[in-house]
Amino acid sequence: MKTDNKKNQKKTEKEIESLLKKMTLDEKISMIHGASLFRSGGVERLGIPGIETSDGPMGVREEFMSDRWIPAGNNDDRVSYLPSNSALASTWNPYRAYEMGKVLGAEARGRGKDVILAPGINIKRSPLCGRNFEYMSEDPKLTATLAVPFIRGVQDNDVAACVKHFAANVQETDRLMVDEKIDERTLHELYFPAFKAAVQEADAYSVMAAYNKVNGYHCCENKQLLDDVLRGEWGFDGAVISDWGGVHLTKEAAECSLDLEMSVFPDFDEYVLANPLKELIKKGEVSEEAVDAKVRNLLRLMFRLKMIGKEKADRKQGAYNTPDHRQMILRTAQESMILLKNEKQALPLNASKIRKLTVIGQNAAAIHSDGGGSAEIKALYEICPLMGLKCYLGGNTQVTYVPGYYVPEKRKTFDHNWQADSLDDLKASTAGVLTRDDGAPKDHRAEEEEHIAQRQREAAEVHEKNQALFAEAIEAAKDADAVIFVGGLNHYIDSEGADRADMKLPYEQDELIEALLKVRKDMIVTLIGGSPVEMPWKDKAQAILWSYYAGMETGTAFAGILFGDINPSGKLAETFPDVYGDCVTAKNGQFGVGGSISLEEGLYCGYRYFDRQRITPAFCFGYGLSYTHFTYSGLTFKTEKGGEIKLTFTVRNTGRRIGAETAQIYVAPIGAKADRPDKELKAYSKVELAPGKSRKVTVTLKREDFAYYDVNAHDFVTDAGDYEILVGASCADIRLKGIATLT
Ligand code: BGC
Repeated sequence: MKTDNKKNQKKTEKEIESLLKKMTLDEKISMIHGASLFRSGGVERLGIPGIETSDGPMGVREEFMSDRWIPAGNNDDRVSYLPSNSALASTWNPYRAYEMGKVLGAEARGRGKDVILAPGINIKRSPLCGRNFEYMSEDPKLTATLAVPFIRGVQDNDVAACVKHFAANVQETDRLMVDEKIDERTLHELYFPAFKAAVQEADAYSVMAAYNKVNGYHCCENKQLLDDVLRGEWGFDGAVISDWGGVHLTKEAAECSLDLEMSVFPDFDEYVLANPLKELIKKGEVSEEAVDAKVRNLLRLMFRLKMIGKEKADRKQGAYNTPDHRQMILRTAQESMILLKNEKQALPLNASKIRKLTVIGQNAAAIHSDGGGSAEIKALYEICPLMGLKCYLGGNTQVTYVPGYYVPEKRKTFDHNWQADSLDDLKASTAGVLTRDDGAPKDHRAEEEEHIAQRQREAAEVHEKNQALFAEAIEAAKDADAVIFVGGLNHYIDSEGADRADMKLPYEQDELIEALLKVRKDMIVTLIGGSPVEMPWKDKAQAILWSYYAGMETGTAFAGILFGDINPSGKLAETFPDVYGDCVTAKNGQFGVGGSISLEEGLYCGYRYFDRQRITPAFCFGYGLSYTHFTYSGLTFKTEKGGEIKLTFTVRNTGRRIGAETAQIYVAPIGAKADRPDKELKAYSKVELAPGKSRKVTVTLKREDFAYYDVNAHDFVTDAGDYEILVGASCADIRLKGIATLT
């Protein structure tokens, strides 16, 4: 860690060497693989504990049995439920990211954990990726600038962040085997920067190597990724932990910079880095030094976390479920919701004029914290939108709730649970025990056919049940002072282990919304989900509010925004395409077909693609409305010593409410030598302003903000020349422009 002072660091390294010398080969090996599903082995004799890990990004996951994939069934592991990373990213607020990291770290430590398997910072290549809700953005700068404070917040609690999934884990389909073929420049400009910042700026103590392959090699055994880039170029000296079941080859895993093998099987001694490795060492095919290198990194992690060493007594104790945590979670939720449309000042609603309110849609009453895959948690509580509205309005308003559409229930069972499903090349047997595959090549066709048949059966069931539900909803909509629709997605759809089949709203919601808008033009449409959806009815709705899975206080934040106590300030951290066909993945392929996919689009995904193709999305990157208005003026530049460019401009709140605006700064090279995206986000600043007030914003662009990765130099280079600086309220709404010249 760079913040360790040099002397301490030297001392620590000495202690590591002395411990290492005392250890037998068996003891060392016991440390580098799982000893239970979420804990590594320790060496009791020397006072070295195992490392306790836990998922995940939205809160500390419930306890599992040590040797099977079944919750322990405890009553003391309920926790605060944090907004998902997609919600956090929509705040465009690094301070909120720090706070959320701090809450997660404190709760993890409070539950006795050493490593929290978060944050997920993969770049969103396709809107259909099942885990997008866990990730932040399609843009590397936005992701990096939020990941860094988040990690610092976690680690301020003497808990390690485990930044995942390194690298390019951009699809769930065939995630264990797919080979993502990505060119060097795209890796360095798009898929690496947030990880690099996590390591170099946030000093992340651990990194999780992904399931997938990158350019031919599984990430857990990928020398180019782990040795050359992560340790070599970026100087990472923390621990690399495998994704669960992501290690395949003993010699390769032993000889690259992977330090800890975790998996889903209970046969811990048979892990790749257990007995099979010992055999290879005995035969002289792998040197013991390979094991020593791993143990050093794990011991260093333990010293940093004060798990061992002289500072042990000073280790922070953490706390979970504190009122403070809930306050911070509420503030983040309030800042995360995005007002996509608001005509005729449909919002905010005036509570004093509403005696009868009709709320329609399953997501009004749904709970989301317990789903999504490894991000699932057992929340202390979760306030759904309906409860938020009722708590806000009190007993004098008659609130009528109707579900509107049918959602087939999928029960979790532990003889066939999601984790088993998601590890599609491993085999699930009964009672949560995962057993190893027999290695025979699989024919997935029968399985796929069964999935399709299942989907068809479900669609027919939904259609049949919806007839009565639609009629009921339409009647209820007619007879009310105001109507709020709360639909969207859920974790049957936004989930680990599977990608979405399309970008449509499920359960015939589009038909229902169309029908409702016919009888109630003023219906407020609100959607909750983890990834973009097509909104074919969007021109007909007056108001649309989008929320990602926003944590335990979702309903409170939701009511606050709808009734105007809170002025929305969320902005999209990803493009919302009009139709899926507009996305680059519709052209280049979403999933690796035949086990691999070439990311031909290179840098051109997200807004970079929409810009280049001149496609107007439904709602662009960086977009989000407020109940007030902001003007931008007076852009000036000053070149500082060292070639940095200092920009200033003024943002003014010209409306009647206090509100916050995120000003975004994009750089657009003029006449660039290399192929460059039309423009790229390089900085942003969120300012809160009272009505009529203005603030001078100052932003410094460094030379590296103008750079691109040169494959000949294998490094970033900055060309002299002219660059347009664009300051805007979104990627398409550019308010100020100027030209900066770099010499
Ligand atoms: C997921 C990881 C998670 C791990 C442990 C894997 O399936 O990809 O994100 O941390 O399981 O639950």
